[in-house]
Amino acid sequence: MTVTIVGAQLGDEGKGGVVDVFSDAADIIVRYQGGDNAGHTVVEDDEEYKLSLVPSGAIRGKIGVLGNGCVVNPRTLFTEIDKLQDRGLSPDVRVARRAHVILPYHRVIDGIEEDTKEDDDLAAGTTGRGIGPTYEDKAGRRGIRIGDLLDPEVLRARLEYVVPQKRELLSSVYGVDPDEIEDPENAFDIDALYEEYKSYGERLKEEGMTVNSGAFLTQAIEDGNKVMLEGAQGTSLDIDHGVYPYVTSSNPSAGAASVGTGLGVTTVGQGEVIGVIKAYLSRVGTGPLPTELGDIDEQTAGSGTTAEDEIASYIRDRGGEYGTVTGRPRRVGWIDMPMLRHATRTNGFTGIAVNHIDVLAGLETVKVGHSYTLDGEEQLTMPTTTEEWGQCEPNYREFDGWDDVDWKQVSEQGYEALPENAQEYLDYISSELSVPVYAVGVGAERDETIIRKHPF
Ligand code: IMP
Repeated sequence: MTVTIVGAQLGDEGKGGVVDVFSDAADIIVRYQGGDNAGHTVVEDDEEYKLSLVPSGAIRGKIGVLGNGCVVNPRTLFTEIDKLQDRGLSPDVRVARRAHVILPYHRVIDGIEEDTKEDDDLAAGTTGRGIGPTYEDKAGRRGIRIGDLLDPEVLRARLEYVVPQKRELLSSVYGVDPDEIEDPENAFDIDALYEEYKSYGERLKEEGMTVNSGAFLTQAIEDGNKVMLEGAQGTSLDIDHGVYPYVTSSNPSAGAASVGTGLGVTTVGQGEVIGVIKAYLSRVGTGPLPTELGDIDEQTAGSGTTAEDEIASYIRDRGGEYGTVTGRPRRVGWIDMPMLRHATRTNGFTGIAVNHIDVLAGLETVKVGHSYTLDGEEQLTMPTTTEEWGQCEPNYREFDGWDDVDWKQVSEQGYEALPENAQEYLDYISSELSVPVYAVGVGAERDETIIRKHPF
């Protein structure tokens, strides 16, 4: 059977922790989209591991698969694997031969395009990992796949077709000399790319790492293995269902768990689909955010009040809502129910996991954006255009806050030990979405998740 884990908001919902607690019962953990734009930290035996590509389960002795819907940067992959091996681990990672490869020129183009878009407020604030340009090449049928790395002749032919186009794009469209790019080096040099990527192919082959993901996983399920399908980012960052164009270039939503692994929709649909929700909202970078609290220079229009800024800072500090790399404060807001109704419909959640209930503790009142008003009418779900979303005025509901308690003790005692007002808040979310709460996160540590129902 399968369990699919999906972010219900804008990424950073704490999916890693949910995957971690539920994957205890899984044999194989599969990523179905995205690439090294997704960072997660795993703590095992007091050792901390920071990963962006290797599925976290691979640290715990499970098989980790990067499905065909992923975009794989072999440099990142092997750096992560080598570091884990240096620390005495032997991660078992398999890569779909149909997955697309991120090449150095994708990263360069990602950066240049973002710079260009900034003048028109269209920059998505990407992670700069080359994700968008790689998916663009996939759709444009000029991508290079993991399977191509295994055959030097095919690799050479693909590079000879695509690299001159990229050079032309850089010089003619962006006015940049491709040979002047220093970081990364040789990003537009066919011979250098060929040698480096051929060697990745040799290593993939030698270590038997590549799979036909659909066939491999279908057989594994028939053999009785339990498979977890792990989405990266969140539904509102989905290229089809998110706040376009401030989105990633893949489909984090659950439909991609089938397309991005090669498992049939009926196989995925017979399993559970768990939506991971953060008890408030956070957002990295630009774009509208109707339930935003306060404002942050250069990221928001600046309509917040001082009282809102104080609440925002309180949540931001307690929730550690600062960018891991830049230290930049993340924008925060109240939970947005239209966004969650949209995510529930799009993904077909069978259960939800709500994280960071502890972060809101100590607030006198906790609000939720229950609905929006748009053009004088009440809306219960997100409008289809991001411009309309930006015009939505939230209609709030208020809940009495809850005190800070010994959350470790609460997690030991279970759901009934949660403060009553927190339970009321969770009941509201669950009944509005008509989906049961499977888990509640009350702290950052592994044992600080209350499990009400285990999906496996
Ligand atoms: P890209 O995925 O690097 O192309 O970035 C596109 C958008 O998705 C940007 O707004 C990123 O901030 C956002 N994004 C990508 N990955 C994550 C993530 O793991 N968490 C939160 N936001 C993300």
